[in-house]
Amino acid sequence: MKKVTISTLAKMKQQGERISVITAYDASFAKLFDEQGIDVMLIGDSLGMVLMGENSTLPVTVEQMAYHTKSVKNGAQRAFVVADMPFMSYATAEQTYANAAQLMAAGAEMVKMEGGLWLVEAIKGLAERGVPVCGHLGLTPQSVHKFGGFKVQGREQSAADEIVAQALALEQAGIQLLVLECIPTELGERISQTLSIPVIGIGAGPHTDGQVLVMHDMFGISANYMPKFSKNYLAETGDIRKAVSLYIEEVKNGRFPSEQHSFS
Ligand code: KIV
Ligand code: NA
Repeated sequence: MKKVTISTLAKMKQQGERISVITAYDASFAKLFDEQGIDVMLIGDSLGMVLMGENSTLPVTVEQMAYHTKSVKNGAQRAFVVADMPFMSYATAEQTYANAAQLMAAGAEMVKMEGGLWLVEAIKGLAERGVPVCGHLGLTPQSVHKFGGFKVQGREQSAADEIVAQALALEQAGIQLLVLECIPTELGERISQTLSIPVIGIGAGPHTDGQVLVMHDMFGISANYMPKFSKNYLAETGDIRKAVSLYIEEVKNGRFPSEQHSFS
C-alpha cells in the first residue's frame, strides 16, 4: 500500500491510468474507500447538500469543512486527500491564506477552488506558500444563482473556448489537478488532452484522466434525486464494499461513464 501523492497522480496521467475519486465526509467511509483502493478522496462542500439537506453549497463554512477534513484524514491511509474551499472563503488574499491554512492543518493535502481567471493570483500565492491547488471549472455549484440553476456549461462554441482558456490560465498559475463538472463530452476530452496536469470529470464524459462521484449518489441515498451523470453502484451490487470496488474498476477500465451518463 503506497501512499498516493500528487506525483502519483501526475504519473498516472502520463501512463494513461485512470484516477478514481469519490467524495468522503467521515472516518468510517474514508477507511472503507481506502481499503477498496480509491485514489483520491474529496471532502466536497457538497456536504451542505448531502449531509445537511441544504439546496445549495452556499451555507457551508470553513469550520465545517475543517471538521470533516480531519475526520476523513483520520480514516484515509493511502488515498490523496483534497478539501473544498467553501463559498466566499477565498474572496480576498488574506481570507484565502487563512482559510487554506485551516484546511491544510486539518489534514488536507490540496485545496480546491471554483472559478477561472480571477483565481490566478490566489493560486500563485498558495503554491508559493506550499499549498497545492485543484481548480474546478464548468458547472461550479457555488455560482448556481449566477447560472440560474444547476445547468450544463460550455455547450456553445464560444463558452467552450472560454473554459479551455480558463483551464490553461489556471494550469499556468500552478494548479496541479482540475475538476470539470457538467460539460459536453468533447470539451472534457479537449481540455484533458490540452493540459499536462490530471483532469477529473463529473458529468464531463469518459475521456478525462479520472472520474469523481458524490458518495451519496453512488449509493443511491441522495436526499433529492439521482443526477444523470451518476450511477447507483449499490443497486447493482447489493454491498457497499462491492459497490465501491466496482466503481473503481469501471473508472479504471473506462466502462464508466457511458454515453447515458454524459452530455453531448
Ligand atoms: O463538492 C463536491 O462534492 C464537488 C465534486 C462534485 C467535484 O466539488
Ligand atoms: Na464542491
